[in-house]
Amino acid sequence: MRLGVVGLGRMGGNMVTRLLRGGHEVVAYDRSAEAVRGAATGGARGADSLEALVRALAPPRHVWLMVPAGEPTEATIQALAPLLARGDTLVDGGNTRWTDDVRRARELAGRGLDYVDVGTSGGLWGLANGYCLMVGGARAAVERLAPVFTTLAPPDGWLHVGGSGSGHYVKMVHNGIEYAMMQAYAEGFELMSASEYGLDLPGVAHLWNQGSVIRSWLLELTADALRADPTLAGLKPWVEDSGEGRWTVEDAVEKAVPAPTITAALFARFRSRRENSFADRLLAALRQAFGGHAVRR
Ligand SMILES: NC(=O)c1ccc[n+]([C@@H]2O[C@H](COP(=O)([O-])OP(=O)(O)OC[C@H]3O[C@@H](n4cnc5c(N)ncnc54)[C@H](OP(=O)(O)O)[C@@H]3O)[C@@H](O)[C@H]2O)c1
Repeated sequence: MRLGVVGLGRMGGNMVTRLLRGGHEVVAYDRSAEAVRGAATGGARGADSLEALVRALAPPRHVWLMVPAGEPTEATIQALAPLLARGDTLVDGGNTRWTDDVRRARELAGRGLDYVDVGTSGGLWGLANGYCLMVGGARAAVERLAPVFTTLAPPDGWLHVGGSGSGHYVKMVHNGIEYAMMQAYAEGFELMSASEYGLDLPGVAHLWNQGSVIRSWLLELTADALRADPTLAGLKPWVEDSGEGRWTVEDAVEKAVPAPTITAALFARFRSRRENSFADRLLAALRQAFGGHAVRR
């Protein structure tokens, strides 16, 4: 089918390539003219504005957004919606907070537009392996987009999980689990790196992927990273978070659902960004105050 794609970064650019390989026609727009030229070289029809993108699509139009969540996505939707007509569909494939989807779907329905939220997982490897897609929205709109989902995903790799917001909600929980899994691997490998056995850590990561209970793609990436830089000396111990972990914890608190492991993994990331922790200095000061214990200055 013919689809508009807005946002040709790491994800959007590769998704356009996969769609073109799957026989779809793509009209591609990005605020960077260079990114549009890149997509056009690959076989997409380049658009130099949102207006041009909409003009190049026939009703009912389908436009997939792949821009950063939050303000960039909001601003893009505010700019696009007035250009679209009743029966058209906007798809948000970014990591949007599901509560924003619920509001947007309602607002856009007022204009006769469908809104489909798609939690997308697969990162840079999705181009070759396919993207796991968690799809939320009205059934009819989702069914119209089924050929696109089928091309982007690996076999059995997309699911209509429910109404508006549910796609991003499921993706949020997916990412919360990802935080906890990564933290567990990181702690286990740090422990092994401190052991007296001089372990071959990339070897162990590879070994664990051969039939063990904790085999996973994250472990494959662990083996690759440790093979490339066994001590990881080239990296600072600074770990960002991009929202989904916080939202998972916020939702767990809201619903009084215990999620201690995901919460600890989120807080470990906050901790990684404290280069000279006030809390640790206070701990040292208190130990010295009550017990005369030594401190380092
Ligand atoms: N990377 C991943 O592994 C991954 C996985 C799943 C989902 N996602 C989600 O997918 C979305 C895109 O991620 P990405 O990794 O492709 O990001 P990216 O590489 O930074 O690309 C984002 C694209 O959006 C454009 N953009 C940024 N701010 C904009 C604005 N205010 N208005 C219009 N366009 C704007 C960027 O243009 P400039 O280059 O000019 O800034 C770029 O072309 C995000 O919501 C992200 O959370 C990412």
